[in-house]
Amino acid sequence: MSTLAILTAAGSGTRLGRDLPKALVQVDGVPLVLHAARRLAASGVVDELVVTAPPGATAGVRDLLAADPLVGLPLEVVDGGATRQASVAAGLAHAGADVDVVLVHDAARPFAPAALVRRVVAAVRAGHPAVVPGLPVVDTIKTVSRGEHQTAGAHASEAATAAVEPVTGTPERAVLRAVQTPQGFDRDLLVRAHAAGAARAGADHLAATDDAGLVEALGERVVVVAGDEAAMKITTERDMHLAALYAGRVA
Ligand code: CTP
Ligand code: MG
Repeated sequence: MSTLAILTAAGSGTRLGRDLPKALVQVDGVPLVLHAARRLAASGVVDELVVTAPPGATAGVRDLLAADPLVGLPLEVVDGGATRQASVAAGLAHAGADVDVVLVHDAARPFAPAALVRRVVAAVRAGHPAVVPGLPVVDTIKTVSRGEHQTAGAHASEAATAAVEPVTGTPERAVLRAVQTPQGFDRDLLVRAHAAGAARAGADHLAATDDAGLVEALGERVVVVAGDEAAMKITTERDMHLAALYAGRVA
């Protein structure tokens, strides 16, 4: 019995807009992928690490993580794929025979606390084959019909005729959760979910944005455990300021 963490770090970070891949961008002088790996290691429940690296950065990422005394886990660094889903599938292909639990975690969530990692693994080992951390949402969320444009009437001003999206619903906020990573899975279930969804992996508009989505598509049960604000995702420059608040925290 062994727990593998797949750390996804192969994205380009387009929305962050730096001149290097997002996982290599530093907070407090430490690249995001190293922050994330340190916290996975600090959890004490991860036995091995597979990292998906950006194109051309595989050796650099391997050196960075292998040399860090706070990581100290058996490590493989593999080339990522065209989408996050493809990258996770590439990582999963490197799971050893003894692995029974797989965590999938984003380097873009570098400050996910060790306690959160332990919570997710504990829930999987307690018999939940698919576990995601989630937080209640603060905004009211609406669903819309995409790509529809309609005018506000014959005398509508130019501003009022700007693209509008008709609202199709307002889900009850109390039952919504914003989900994070690490997500934890029974290894066989995750392999089955990725195999069933493989046709979606090649294109951004088809690919799953999280692994639990692939498990749900199989019709299998996924459960939510309490998330943590420190596991926030770095997407834009604004998030870098927020991330700095969590960087100093002891994992
Ligand atoms: N990721 C990956 N392989 C890809 C795309 C994304 O391993 N082909 C990883 C990213 O490195 C990140 C996580 O998946 O840790 C979540 O993706 P996201 O936040 O979208 O990061 P990027 O794709 O790098 O950013 P952007 O979408 O702005 O380009
Ligand atoms: Mg992306």
